[in-house]
This record gives sequence, C-alpha cells and structure tokens, in this order.
Amino acid sequence: MTKILVTGALGQIGSELTAALKKIYGEKNVITSDVKTSDISEEFLPYETLNVLDKTRLAEIVKKHDIKIIYHLAAILSATGEKNPNLCWDVNMTGLHNVLEVARELAVKQIICPSSIAVFGPETPRDNTPQETVILPKTMYGLTKAAGELLCDYYVAKFGLDVRGTRYPGLISHKTLPGGGTTDYAVEIFYEAIKKKSYTCFLESGTTLPMMYMPDAIRGTIQLAETDFSKLKNHSNFNFAGISFSCAELADEIKKHIPDFKIDYAPDFRQQIANSWPRSIDDSEARKQWGWKVEYDLEKMTKDMIFNLKKKLQN
Ligand SMILES: NC(=O)c1ccc[n+]([C@@H]2O[C@H](COP(=O)([O-])OP(=O)(O)OC[C@H]3O[C@@H](n4cnc5c(N)ncnc54)[C@H](O)[C@@H]3O)[C@@H](O)[C@H]2O)c1
Repeated sequence: MTKILVTGALGQIGSELTAALKKIYGEKNVITSDVKTSDISEEFLPYETLNVLDKTRLAEIVKKHDIKIIYHLAAILSATGEKNPNLCWDVNMTGLHNVLEVARELAVKQIICPSSIAVFGPETPRDNTPQETVILPKTMYGLTKAAGELLCDYYVAKFGLDVRGTRYPGLISHKTLPGGGTTDYAVEIFYEAIKKKSYTCFLESGTTLPMMYMPDAIRGTIQLAETDFSKLKNHSNFNFAGISFSCAELADEIKKHIPDFKIDYAPDFRQQIANSWPRSIDDSEARKQWGWKVEYDLEKMTKDMIFNLKKKLQN
C-alpha cells in the first residue's frame, strides 16, 4: 500500500486531511509529522517530529517509511507571517525546497503543496479573479506562496516530478482552530457567537473574501491528488472557489440560528491584507481539468458549523 507523509499535520487542514487519508489508505499508511514534540493524540499516530527546515531528518523519515506521497502543509500563514516575515520566508520557501529536493532524490511519486489566494495583490481584478492574472502579492506570506507555485512548477517541468496544489481560500472548520491567517475571523465568530453571543470582528463589516468549508476543501484536495496527471494543464496553482461573503453577511446568517447574536467591528492590521485579496474566484480550470464542484453554500456551512461547534463546546 502507498505510504503517505503529511507535514504540518497538526494544523487546521492537516488535522482533518489526516483522518480522510487514513480512511482511504489505512491507519498505518499515513504518517503524520509536525514541529510539535508533545501532546500528540492517538488519532495522529504514527507520528514523527519534523521541522521541515531539517532536510536530513525529512530524508530519514521518507526512507524509514518508504514514503511515496507527501502532503506538504507545514507553513507560516498570512497574519503570523506579517509579524515574523523572516520565519515565514524560511519555513515557506526553504521548507518547500527541502520537500521538493528530498522527493526528487528519493523518488517520491507525488507532492501536494497548497497555495493560497494570498498570491494575488491589489492590482489583481478582485471579482471573479481569473486563473491567469496579475500576481503581485504585498505580504511576505503571499510572495512565498507565489514563488512556491513557481518553484513547484519548475520541479514539474525540469524533473518530471508530480507536484499539485490549489490556491485555498479562507478555510472554515470546527475541529482545529486556524493558525494565524487573515480569514480566521470566519471561524472565531462561530465560537464567540455560541459562547458569548457577541463578537468583535477584526475586519470591516463589508469586507468580502473567498472562503470554503473544510469538508469541501478536503474532498477537493484528494480529488485533485487522484486525477490522472496527464489530464492536468496547470499543476500547483489551481484557483479553487467555495463561497464568498462579507463579515456582515456571515453575521446575519448566524443570527438566523442565534437571534440575539451581536457583532461589532474593530479593524486591525489584517484589514490591509484583506483589502489586497480577491472578493471572489473564477475556478473554471479546476472544474474543467479535474471536475471540482463546491457543495457547501453559506446557509449549509453555517448550519453545520453551529451544530458541530455546539456539540464540541458542550463537552
Ligand atoms: N487554513 C487556511 O485558511 C488556508 C488558506 C490558504 C492556504 N492555506 C495553506 O494550507 C497549508 C496548511 O495550512 P493550515 O491552515 O493547516 O495551517 P496551520 O497554521 O493551521 O498549520 C500549519 C502547521 O505547520 C506546523 N509548522 C509550522 N512551522 C513548521 C516547521 N518549521 N516544520 C514543520 N511544521 C511546522 C505548525 O505547527 C502547524 O501545525 C499551508 O500551506 C497554508 O499556507 C491555508
């Protein structure tokens, strides 16, 4: 059976992707890894501590488990990246380069490496942002993701390595809290609505951003990974759309379930990042090349989030 390594597996995406991969490939065939050394819950086993900056250790793990597919999720996200740009550069660029080099040297068959809507900048058309468009990001995170896409595509063209990825929008989930991005408000708002019936949003009410519910993101990611390589014209930079809504529209949807919920707004440094990103995404290439289709709209996602978070917060 194919053995898979997930880097950054304890994060928002990794914690859910790991479970989905284990269902398909078997518990023992999905090896998780993260920089964290302790408090690893049983669902992540087998687990290897791995800082992706340590190429020797990465190669050791790939050899030890005979890894054939790597889902490379270890990264520093947009808001944390603006606070610590050097760390963001190191982890997102050197970490990715290490993964690609180890994959090339040790004949790993496939690398899945997420990109982000953060590759876009203020010069990019903000509505229905095309697949091929101006890529002039203004954040350190965005520029590492843009350079990362180019680096991945270089390994496809130069070495024939199978590298793929989508430009994730902001992801909304109830299992693991997001790790320091600009779209984190869309998860925090649910926790606060249930716990306190009020939330102070760090973005302005009318800020519209592209988002996606985690079950769609996981399904789409695996669907892309399983597509016949010869069918793909793009590789590491697929536009990937879910739902677009403003902070106020999300608050209104939550009020349908929690009528006395109140929201106010205190925009911080993340507003500037959000202002440089698209409002909605044209993902026609993903739909054409590998059959992507979103399932969750705002109403369905909100209902599911509230149902699952209420259960989680009761325990
Ligand atoms: N969550 C989103 O909304 C979103 C949106 C766009 C793109 N992405 C991309 O998806 C990928 C996964 O994102 P996520 O949301 O799960 O992030 P996250 O911050 O929740 O998780 C990242 C994980 O990487 C680990 N990590 C950090 N530095 C490391 C290092 N040096 N070595 C090994 N592990 C390290 C962290 O401990 C964390 O568990 C990233 O490439 C991110 O850029 C995420």
